[in-house]
Amino acid sequence: MQKPQVTDEELARMAIGAMEKAYAPYSNFHVGAAVATEDGAIFTGANVENASYGLTICAERVAIFTAVSQGHIRITRVAVAASNLEEVFPCGACRQVLNEFGPEMNVITIARGQMAASYSLSELLPRSFGPADLQK
Ligand code: THU
Repeated sequence: MQKPQVTDEELARMAIGAMEKAYAPYSNFHVGAAVATEDGAIFTGANVENASYGLTICAERVAIFTAVSQGHIRITRVAVAASNLEEVFPCGACRQVLNEFGPEMNVITIARGQMAASYSLSELLPRSFGPADLQK
């Protein structure tokens, strides 16, 4: 079912809210993400760390995998908030995962409690590798 799309500012606020659920006792760096899907659904995520550090998962991937595992595979926007209050960008691994489910998506950054800017994912991940490359 199609829902009206939230604004970029609203998506940013949801990412800020999601940050509260971060489990980050090792880095103490709390991150929240909110993704919007083509059909207007919103899914949020926070980073989840582990005593075995390498098993940590970023907020962006938690949000995307939640969306995908509930049947929403087309993502149009992602907003990312971090506890240092500065503009934070998705890490390289998350950019690759974002690309799988929305090469045309926009990445909304947040600083000091509000939306800072919007970038195209292709600007942040140029010359990407994606599903289409496997068909060639
Ligand atoms: N982290 C994210 O959740 N997203 C990012 O884009 C960058 C890093 C998390 C992973 C780890 O829990 C903490 O931030 C410090 O790297």
